[in-house]
Order: sequence, then C-alpha cells, then structure tokens
Amino acid sequence: MRIGIIGSGYVGLVTGACFAHLGHQVICVDNDVKKLTVLKKGKVPIYEPGLEELISENVKKGRLKFHASVRYTVRQCEVLFICVNTPPKDNGEADLSYVEAVAREIAVSLPSYRVIVDKSTVPVETGGWVAKTMKDNHRKGVAFDVASNPEFLSEGTAIRDFLEPDRVVIGVSSKRAEKVLRQLYAPLKAPILVTDIKSAELIKHASNSFLATKISFINVVSRLCDAVGADVDLVAKGMGMDPRIGKSFLKAGVGFGGFCFPKDLSAFLRISEKRGIPFNLLKEVLEINEEQKSYFVQKIESEMWNLRNKTLGVLGLAFKAGTDDMRFAPSVDIIKHLQSEGVTVKAYDPQAMSRARPLLKKVTFVKSAYEAARGADALVVLTEWSEFKNMDFKRVKRLLRHPVLFDGRNMYDPKQMKKLGFRYHGMGRPS
Ligand code: UGA
Repeated sequence: MRIGIIGSGYVGLVTGACFAHLGHQVICVDNDVKKLTVLKKGKVPIYEPGLEELISENVKKGRLKFHASVRYTVRQCEVLFICVNTPPKDNGEADLSYVEAVAREIAVSLPSYRVIVDKSTVPVETGGWVAKTMKDNHRKGVAFDVASNPEFLSEGTAIRDFLEPDRVVIGVSSKRAEKVLRQLYAPLKAPILVTDIKSAELIKHASNSFLATKISFINVVSRLCDAVGADVDLVAKGMGMDPRIGKSFLKAGVGFGGFCFPKDLSAFLRISEKRGIPFNLLKEVLEINEEQKSYFVQKIESEMWNLRNKTLGVLGLAFKAGTDDMRFAPSVDIIKHLQSEGVTVKAYDPQAMSRARPLLKKVTFVKSAYEAARGADALVVLTEWSEFKNMDFKRVKRLLRHPVLFDGRNMYDPKQMKKLGFRYHGMGRPS
C-alpha cells in the first residue's frame, strides 16, 4: 500500500521505517528542510537502536522516501498517518494546533478517497475534531474516513514494539476504513482490536496512565520498605507473580520521565476534568513522582550529612536506558536540586550528554563512568545503562574518595556491593 506519514519525529520515523520494512511504499513528510536533507542520506537525527539501519536499508530499496509537501503526499498515498507533536500547554492540556493544521492541509489536497489516521497521542474526541476540520475544508464530493491507531512504542525498543506488538488498536467509524487498516497491518500477524474512534483514543491515555500509576505505587512502597527494612524488589516479585497484577512496571527508582508519561497523565487529567470527571488519582500519581526525586536527594543528604562542597559522580542522565532522550528526565531535577544544596556534579551518559548539556549548567561532563567516579565523594546512578552494571568495581572504589554508592535504579546486588566494600543505598532495599 502507499502510506504517507505526516510528521517525521520519533513516532513518524519509526512507523514509516517499519511500514516500509513490511513492504509498503512510504513517504515521510516534514516541514524541517534541514532534517529532510539528513534523512534523505539515510541518517537519523535521534538515537533509537536499529532505526538508522532500517531507514537507510529502505531508502536504498526505494520503499521509503522523504518529502516536504503534504499536498504531494496526499495525492500519492491512500492512507495518511498524522504523527505530529502534541506538546503540553502550560495548564497540562495537549496542544492540538499541529494536528488541526495537518488535517486542514490534508483536506484541501484530497484528490479521492483517503483514510486519515491519527497516530499522535491525543485526548479523546480529537478524531471527531479532525473529521469536522476535514469536512469544513475539503472539496465537496470526495469521500474520506478518519481513524485512530494509537502507538505503543517505547523508546529504546520501538522497532521491536512496532513489528511484534501485543496488540494493534484500530478505532474506526466505517467498514471501509477498517478493511484498509487491517490490510496494512496484516503482515504483522498481531492481535487486532477494532473499536470506535473514541475508545481507541482512550485506550492510549488510559494505558500510559495505568502504567505510570503502577510505578508511583511501587515507589511509595519502596519508601515504606526503606522505613521498615524490607526489600521492594521482593515485594514487587511477590505481587507480580499474581497474574492479575503482572510483574512489569513495578521497578522502584527515581521516578518516571520521558515525553510520554508526564505529558499524557497531565493531558488525561485535564480532559477528564473538562468533562466533569475529576481523576484525582492521577494527580496523586504525578505528585508522588515529583516527591520521589526529592526523596532520593534526601537519601543522599542523610548519608553524607552536609552536601555543600561535596562532589558527586553521576552515572546516567537519559530518562531511561537505550535512549538519548532528556525530556522530563528525573536526572535534571535531581541534579539541579543537588546543585542548589552546593554539590558539584560530574556526569557521564553513554548517549545523552549532548542533549543534557543545554539543560544542565555547571555540570562537568566526562567521557566515562570511571572519570565520573574519580575523586568524587560518592557515586550516584540515575539511568540503568547496562555498561554501568558490568563496571570494574574494584577500580571504581579506588577512584572514589569514599566508597559510597546511591543506586537510583536498583541495578546492583546490595550484598555484593557490601562485600566489595561499598556503603550501598538502593531504593527500598536493606543496605
Ligand atoms: C511509554 C510506554 O511504555 C509506551 O507503551 C508508549 O507507547 C510510550 O510511552 C508513548 O506514549 O509513546 P516510554 O516513555 O518510551 O514508553 O518509556 P517507558 O519504558 O514506559 O518508561 C517510562 C519511564 O518510567 C522511564 O523513566 C522509566 O525509567 C520509568 N519506569 C518504567 C520505572 O521507573 N519503573 C518501571 O518499572 C518502568
């Protein structure tokens, strides 16, 4: 099939490259000409494992093209995916002005029947607004359908998530659109759930909010574990063995970040409030997440007594491993808080340092984990990169001024760390 992807950001690029990989003809559109020049060369402006290879392979095979014109793409393609950004406004609501602008542009360019699919994460009822915008702007007599097909891609594993999904959700209002979208996803052999458009939109916001709720829940349990000397990993293991609860997303740490959970929770909260259904549980989930970062700083302070004039080596800045994304990364708030207490920070991240630089002033960025440890009063782990797991801890201990380790991601075995001579502090684990 011929597919147009409007918006070549993270979601658009992964979606475009994967559809091309499945054998479809894809055009990815963007209004950033510089970005298009880079992409046409098969290079990718973001770090996502496997994406650059997939793009360059499909560009070479002629299945993936890049273009600046929405009009051209609408004429060429029978299905159009809206993958533009829906950034948060100051009040937490999603800013849908890019979605509206794209819907209008598609509408005025429609030559014949097209399916317009929203893939960007949007509040419920956006599909209705897109359909209305299309109706108000398109040439009369040309048929179209609007659909919702939320993405469930996690950064770092996005290609696998796309090609081997747990489910594909298709929200439609016509059999014709359903047939087109089923055909599109047929090569994946994944379970397909067909719903109405509003339910599909809600599935996305409800899923992200539920996952974030699990994280905040376990983070509070981890504080209780700290208070009584229990082990949160064992508590999570025991809870997760119940299939009604499930074991994933019960990893305690320094809180969730990234451009999805914090933004989507706020947007979900706003849309519920607007509809007169205050979702206070989500307020609490967000608040716990903020507290968790301060809680971690307090943990450091209570071990180190005074923070003024102390130097900390920070390992990991990205909001999670496998990405260079720094948006809403817990590291930013934690480092700023530590600096406000007079701490000097030396930091290392295998991928995210260039994105971190503009966000973190007065941090010394170093070239390796060992450099971060050299001469520091303690080591602080904020992202669970696997290279931190397999460090030579005898060397780390020699480099540190004091053998103190704050493990914000529960990466290490407390007993082993103790054996190596470290004063180890995890999240909700007896040290
Ligand atoms: C999330 C969802 O997992 C995807 O399904 C969804 O498609 C995506 O948002 C989106 O809306 O586009 P992502 O933001 O890439 O994906 O990252 P996650 O792996 O979900 O992690 C989010 C945050 O939660 C990270 O900061 C991570 O460190 C933290 N986390 C995750 C925990 O603290 N504990 C856990 O047990 C799991």
